[in-house]
Amino acid sequence: MDEHNRPIHTFQVCNVMEPNQNNWLRSNWISRQAAQKVYVELRFTLRDCNSIPWVSGTCKETFNLFYHETDEAHGVKFRPAQYTKIDTIAADESFTQMDLGDRILKLNTEVREVGPINRKGFYLAFQDIGACIALVSVRVYYKKCPFTLRNLASFPDTVPRVDSSSLVEVRGACVDHAEERDTPKLFCGADGDWLVPLGRCVCSVGYEEIDGSCVACRPGFYKAYAGNIKCSKCPPHSFSYGDASAICRCEKGFFRAEKDPPTMACTRPPSPPRNLIFNLNDTCLLLEWSPPSDTGGRRDLTYNVQCKRCGPEPDHCQLCEDELRFLPGPLGLTNATVTVLDFSAHANYTFEIESLNGVSDMSSFPRQVAIITVSTDQGGPSLVGTLKKDWASPNSIALSWQQPEQTTLPIIDYEVKYYEKEHELLSYSSTRTKAPSVIVSGLKPATWYVFSVRTRTAAGYSSYSPKYEYETTGDSSNMASDQGQVLVIVTAAVGGFTLLVILTLFLLITGSEYFTTYVDPDTYEDPTQAVHEFTKEIDPSRIRIERVIGAGEFGEVCSGRLRTPGKKEIAVAIKTLKGGYVERQRRDFLREASIMGQFDHPNIIRLEGVVTKSRPVMIVVEYMENGSLDSFLRVSVGVLQNSGMIISSDSLKISQHDGHFTVIQLVGMLRGIASGMKYLSDMGYVHRDLAARNILVNSNLVCKVSDFGLSRVLEDDPEAAYTTTGGKIPIRWTAPEAISYRKFSSASDAWSYGIVMWEVMSYGERPYWEMSNQDVILSIEEGYRLPAPMGCPVALHQLMLHCWQKERNHRPKFTDIVSFLDKLIRNPSSLLPLPESPGEEMDYPMFISVGDWLDSIKMSQYKSNFMAAGYNTLDSVARMSIEDVRRIGVELIGHQRRIISSIQTLHLQLLHEHEKGFHV
Ligand code: ADE
Repeated sequence: MDEHNRPIHTFQVCNVMEPNQNNWLRSNWISRQAAQKVYVELRFTLRDCNSIPWVSGTCKETFNLFYHETDEAHGVKFRPAQYTKIDTIAADESFTQMDLGDRILKLNTEVREVGPINRKGFYLAFQDIGACIALVSVRVYYKKCPFTLRNLASFPDTVPRVDSSSLVEVRGACVDHAEERDTPKLFCGADGDWLVPLGRCVCSVGYEEIDGSCVACRPGFYKAYAGNIKCSKCPPHSFSYGDASAICRCEKGFFRAEKDPPTMACTRPPSPPRNLIFNLNDTCLLLEWSPPSDTGGRRDLTYNVQCKRCGPEPDHCQLCEDELRFLPGPLGLTNATVTVLDFSAHANYTFEIESLNGVSDMSSFPRQVAIITVSTDQGGPSLVGTLKKDWASPNSIALSWQQPEQTTLPIIDYEVKYYEKEHELLSYSSTRTKAPSVIVSGLKPATWYVFSVRTRTAAGYSSYSPKYEYETTGDSSNMASDQGQVLVIVTAAVGGFTLLVILTLFLLITGSEYFTTYVDPDTYEDPTQAVHEFTKEIDPSRIRIERVIGAGEFGEVCSGRLRTPGKKEIAVAIKTLKGGYVERQRRDFLREASIMGQFDHPNIIRLEGVVTKSRPVMIVVEYMENGSLDSFLRVSVGVLQNSGMIISSDSLKISQHDGHFTVIQLVGMLRGIASGMKYLSDMGYVHRDLAARNILVNSNLVCKVSDFGLSRVLEDDPEAAYTTTGGKIPIRWTAPEAISYRKFSSASDAWSYGIVMWEVMSYGERPYWEMSNQDVILSIEEGYRLPAPMGCPVALHQLMLHCWQKERNHRPKFTDIVSFLDKLIRNPSSLLPLPESPGEEMDYPMFISVGDWLDSIKMSQYKSNFMAAGYNTLDSVARMSIEDVRRIGVELIGHQRRIISSIQTLHLQLLHEHEKGFHV
């Protein structure tokens, strides 16, 4: 019966009394289907051997799970030797006679992974070796990323890779009536979860997105562009009858000009101008009107003027625009006025003013115009005939004309008007003459002139004679003035250039002051402005995500490649911002990029750019093959500790070292970090979270400072703890004044740098080991400082102690640290390890016994080794060498290192006490 008292079928065996049991149960053949890795979930109960009397030698509490891959079923044939063991299965809970009596079912569930499976199927087999078991169920399954719709693309069922750290990249297919914007992609993770959506599809024209699919626009609506926009109601004076309209058609009498967008209302030609009037004086006729009452719904209103000269019969009219001059012109007027010049004094002119707009040409309706007739016959003088040239020189001309035949009043004189043809509207000159001829002098050689003449009587002026055009003779060049101009231009250019050079030199000399100061993105009112200013936007199609390498506070961290046109593809790390974020999270996420984007130094992680215009939002930085410094150093020790351990080639690119780097290599790494920190402090940037975990290492062992973002970084750092004042601070790495009253500065970064030195020289050991944060604060306050790690050169430990001075102004500046390390590198004999420990008797106030001491460094498992070898006092322990530690049976290098380092601590505490008067 199961826990609900329902009968169940089980496979049971309980030969606990008989020795040498070897009982097998085999499954049917199971088809692999699409699986590469298979999970087997077993539910079983197991009897507690202690609860069965007299079976102590024969009763077992485990059974074995096996599998065997084949391409087809083998029927009843069964050869245990062909089977591979998956695991020995033990129960978490076993039942006793009493449980049976109480009907308590102690059901165990165990899951095991099998794979990769390469054949078409497999068998499972269970081997019993003398247990009392009931196998209740066996569930065999594999994981897949299930069919899903994301960003209007569908992604098929996908089976993950067997290698759980790499992802399967899947391209999505756009849903019906959608089209690709950026190639839609998802990555299938090992647990069957879809990760990192990239790219998207958008609904095509005439379709809008509703609940993840593209639905046709209804009649009366339209969508003119593909994209994530909704269908819109047809603009005024337009309609759509069918579904899925890309554009709405115009109602009758309404039109869309060629350049009108589909979103604009349909429009029609304007009504005619209103209130047309004229104003005539001797020389000019001004026509004025009011704009039309209906502009047709457009703003591109203009006017054309047409002139007709009609005889006594109104339908005997001739066009006369060419005879007259219109200012500013006869066509395309934008103001409701025009000046007419050069009209005859005795004529009737009819002017038609037409309003037009961008759709006037499309309408077949007859055009409507405003009309006015103007009679210029005001009893004034009559016109002179055409002009004739009598002679000319390069600077003058003699002209003559016929006297008007019939003049009612005597002619007073003639006015001759002339101007340079090129400057018609700018200026003109005039001269008067009583005779019907004139000599005009002072003209420019080789220049076109226009002349005309009018008569003056007591009634006023006639209109002008037809124009006479003439080009004066002669050479147009004027060398002297041209040379003068050239001289002026050359002088100005030389002067300007000199000024530019002086300005550039000034900026270069003073530039470091002005251009290298770090700008806090929080000082921007709009933080996205800082992102624009300090980062480059990357088109996501240039990024190829390859695998997930970690999980950040905001989303997955992936590795991949970045293509840049004209450059070599590079490896990058990509931090993603998970969907569903709020604006504050996006801002905090991009804040780090705005900071990083301001730095340019070989020991600071380089920002390649950001993706903010599409989802997911990403920060792309250079890829650092060896990951973070702390784990890199720890793994390097692990290589020796654990010869059977498999270390992926990605996590350890330095293969030639044997778990130890040379001191020069370690100092080289420290020098790089110090150089990066010098750059940051020169820029006025305080890191606040300098620690080996925040340093990244590339394949050339170059260390680069990373993790920027001040307060946010501390939120994110698992080492950061809340202080009594409420701030979150990584206690072990932080200077006392920063812990006590948040006085963060480059000097507090120097303290942290000392801790990083210690982490590096101890191959990733935890600073202050397992001491609590509270104890760390107290012991620092009392003057305690970390001792030199095993094998650490004295000079380096002294530099650490220098960084850990209580008085922050006494700590070295990063520039001092860089030059000190440079000296050490140039003079490697200064890097010899610490001298052997003195062999004098000591007492250790912190620890009473060897057992307590081993407990404190979490090495309790070696208590019996120490006791058995006779090391039962701290004094005797203090004299142990690394060989002694190995001889008593401490085999793991990491443990040897920890024990020896702690033995040295004990020495140094005492040395410290003697030398400086400190009390431990
Ligand atoms: N993890 C976080 N950032 C990284 C980077 N830039 N390279 C490699 N691993 C990382």
